[in-house]
Amino acid sequence: MDHYPIFLNLNNRWCLVIGGNETAARKAEDLLDAGAAVTLVAPQLGSACEELLQRYPDRAVHQAGTYRPGMEHGAALVLATSEDEATDGAVYDACTRRGVPVNAVDRPAYCSCITPAVVDRSPLQVAITSGGAAPVLARQVRSQMETLLPTAYGRLAALAGRLRERVAAALPSGRQRLRFWEQVFEGPAAESMLAGREREAEREMLELLRQEQARDDDRGEVFLVGAGPGDPDLLTFRALRLMQRADVVLHDHLAAPALLRLVRKDAERIPVGKRSGRHTLPQEAINDKLIELAAAGKRVLRLKGGDPFVFGRGGEEIEGLIEHGIPFQVVPAVTAAQGAAAYSGIPLTHRDHAQSCRFLTGHRRDGALRLAQWAPFRPDETLLVYMGLTHLETVCEQLREGGLPADHPAAVVDQATTPAQQVVTGTLADLAERVRTSGLQGPALIMAGPTVELQPRLGWYHSTPDAERAFPEHGCLRREPLAAAAAEPPAETHTEQA
Ligand SMILES: C[S@@+](CC[C@H](N)C(=O)[O-])C[C@H]1O[C@@H](n2cnc3c(N)ncnc32)[C@H](O)[C@@H]1O
Repeated sequence: MDHYPIFLNLNNRWCLVIGGNETAARKAEDLLDAGAAVTLVAPQLGSACEELLQRYPDRAVHQAGTYRPGMEHGAALVLATSEDEATDGAVYDACTRRGVPVNAVDRPAYCSCITPAVVDRSPLQVAITSGGAAPVLARQVRSQMETLLPTAYGRLAALAGRLRERVAAALPSGRQRLRFWEQVFEGPAAESMLAGREREAEREMLELLRQEQARDDDRGEVFLVGAGPGDPDLLTFRALRLMQRADVVLHDHLAAPALLRLVRKDAERIPVGKRSGRHTLPQEAINDKLIELAAAGKRVLRLKGGDPFVFGRGGEEIEGLIEHGIPFQVVPAVTAAQGAAAYSGIPLTHRDHAQSCRFLTGHRRDGALRLAQWAPFRPDETLLVYMGLTHLETVCEQLREGGLPADHPAAVVDQATTPAQQVVTGTLADLAERVRTSGLQGPALIMAGPTVELQPRLGWYHSTPDAERAFPEHGCLRREPLAAAAAEPPAETHTEQA
């Protein structure tokens, strides 16, 4: 985060605006709208500023002359709009010395704070900034937000504000209140407000409050949600909505930690993912935890890499919920195979090359690897082996034992869809050797089939500096081969067993 966002309460506070031009008038008007008293410092005022003084005779005054250090003393905020760099610099120096927040329009170097573009549905406000890097982009985003947020949201928020204390008295538990407000904003009360029927909206809110008060079943529920292979843009809308609703999240060791930042900020986080070499929470303990938390009334998000029902043990986790009568829902997601195929440029099927595809696991419940049991493998299909990186050499051997030739095209896609993605291609005969020197970190997917040969032409995804910035904790720039990799294939960090 480049800046720490904050909203200032300027009601009955005094602010200084340096300048008398149109910009000064616009800035001063925003301050006056926020309840501040404003002094405009300029030799003369333009017509827009003059008009402002007439509209706000009690709170807007003109101090004729130029800025002098010391004038900012006691101001809650100073805005410099003089268009004169020396003046802006002097204002900035004096304000920073006194600890007064200052913003010089269009001069980021002379700003200790930013005045963002605002979508105003007071009391609901959305502030947007590019940190001075691209103000036009920020304005465009604001225009988009303006069309997305109905103007009635302001009245809806105001009504909620009026009922807040009454709701707090009626529903003492924070969880109950959260559920109540979510129902308000997603339900008929909000619809009535949007349709302009404010009285009806209020009646509906109060009826909902009565129902919530009378409710005696305080059981929670479980959201079994697929987080996809890594790129947060691949999340479904529903996944995102439920991530925002959860009280507690039990999460795997996800390929992209950035995904966790999209979970509700105050939700409790419990890592239960499996990593090789580290203590892991046994599956039974995860199942029990889900039941225990939901039974205690929590909304539990079980966030899993890829799709919950593809080598994800989703089936096992919901069995216990069914036994205990706990409500749940399952949200599908892009599985690693789809993500790896799309982002590496290795199609799962192709009319000329591969007419079917199969998802296999390189990791059985008993730990043994027996791919040959699914043989014979066809040369015109795409095989995708999950959880096989640690035993890559054996995987390739077993695919050959299952009928594929030594020169059959094969690839490993590591950390697919993230900025750290790497694709290593070869054949069943030489893939393991090539991977040994590539510094892969996992999770990784093994692909075998004729479409691997299309990869040099169809591969399109490259990480960008922006994407890498979005994954700061990813370690994605560590591309050197692991020292140990020369001796043995890298251990997969994502070794949850299916
Ligand atoms: C326990 S399985 C979970 C699969 C997941 N439910 C899915 O639908 O993708 C974990 C395996 O998925 C594969 N995997 C998960 N994320 C991946 C990624 N971003 N890139 C490559 N492979 C991935 C790896 O083979 C990893 O060992």
